[in-house]
Amino acid sequence: MSNNNLYEPDQDSLSPNRNLCPISTRINNNGELEIAGCTLSKLANDFGTPLYILDEETIRLSCRAYKEALRRFYPGESLPIYASKANSSLAISKIINSEKIGIDVVSEGELLTALMAGISGDKIFLHGNNKSFDELKMAFDNEVTIVIDNQNDIDLLGKIVTSGKSVRLMLRFTPGIECHTHEYIRTGHIDSKFGFDLDKLETILLQLKEYSWADLIGLHAHIGSQIFELNPHYDLTSVMTDALKLSIELGHEVTEINLGGGLGVKYTDSDDPPSIQEWVRTISEGLVQACNQRNLKLPRLICEPGRSLIAIPGVTLYTIGSTKEVPGIRKYISVDGGMSDNPRPITYQSLYSFSLAARPLASPLEKVTIAGKHCESGDVLLKDILIPEYKSGDVLVVFGTGAYNQSMSSNYNRIPKPATVLVNEGSADLVQKRERPVDLLQYDLLPERFTVVT
Ligand code: LLP
Repeated sequence: MSNNNLYEPDQDSLSPNRNLCPISTRINNNGELEIAGCTLSKLANDFGTPLYILDEETIRLSCRAYKEALRRFYPGESLPIYASKANSSLAISKIINSEKIGIDVVSEGELLTALMAGISGDKIFLHGNNKSFDELKMAFDNEVTIVIDNQNDIDLLGKIVTSGKSVRLMLRFTPGIECHTHEYIRTGHIDSKFGFDLDKLETILLQLKEYSWADLIGLHAHIGSQIFELNPHYDLTSVMTDALKLSIELGHEVTEINLGGGLGVKYTDSDDPPSIQEWVRTISEGLVQACNQRNLKLPRLICEPGRSLIAIPGVTLYTIGSTKEVPGIRKYISVDGGMSDNPRPITYQSLYSFSLAARPLASPLEKVTIAGKHCESGDVLLKDILIPEYKSGDVLVVFGTGAYNQSMSSNYNRIPKPATVLVNEGSADLVQKRERPVDLLQYDLLPERFTVVT
């Protein structure tokens, strides 16, 4: 154990979702934080703030953890696929592709990104509870597997699939499994907008038999996100296997089961998510047992992690600006980003961990609240935290921001979106350019009469 590695005692390199920060995080000889050999305050200086940083090594380790755990615990075929809604870009898609895992997409934008990164259609899965004609057509044209979610998908595909051709389908249904997570990110319970109701499954399976173009190869369910329990996914395996048995009895050659994503990550010290290995072991053992009990051949096991692949590889850098003290109540420190680059605290009351980039070892001195710069009182990134001595201009690092930050970012207050820098073995590459205020005007138009000089 090297003594210049602040985070090493806690680092679980086999399962990056159990760490607060990227695997390659170190304190350098100047006492500053670095990731993959890149000093964070220098990155802030070179690329500006707010700045998203992604550590390539941690992304790759996470992909390999899923692949290797599936190989170890599941005796049948398997494929992890990355839920790109968590963070979609050409660079991430290239990494995913080079790790030989698949990808799930939910829009033309995510599909285009995956295709442009060179991912072949057979590794792409299109989801969505209200897919458009164009999205389905693009997926069909590129031989993407389509996860049908409702009758509308079936009706539109009926118009799209050219005669004599077929389309690989998976069928998503609501398994009726509850899990403990924020209600906005729960999807497996009965009152959900996603997927066919469990009690309509038989009807849909019978209906699909009537379409020569429908090649139903698999079943899908996703029960929620940021889940710390293992039981819900274990229970899911038996619900899915019942559905598999029914599909086969009704004459479908279903050979794939996709159990969705959902494994949680460590955002704060008190979070203790299961490891990728424990999670994969649970779903693998559950599925093997459920198939054995029903005398079924093992299907290809697919899982669809988003957050647990990409949250921990990411950090966001901000520059500290103004301070306001409300005597006896609260001290606000404002940074140069906030709810537009990270809407999770205001949306889900999410908690994060942080550090000062240049003085990660400094002792906490006072209780403050880190506020964003947006015109909204709820724009708070970190509430009532203990921070060391700081000054305006210092760089603040927020950890665990790789998932659902960039992908949920907005231009509220016409604030441009941050750049993303990918760090690896001492090099720092810009993989998403920073927007400029002028970029935000590019889609504005004026009616001609506004420009006529009178
Ligand atoms: N598969 C499907 C069909 C999904 O809907 C999702 C996430 C995933 C896989 C990946 O789940 P994960 O492994 O990331 O938990 N915006 C929320 C999270 C929404 C999750 C949506 N679906 C957040 O910031 O917490």
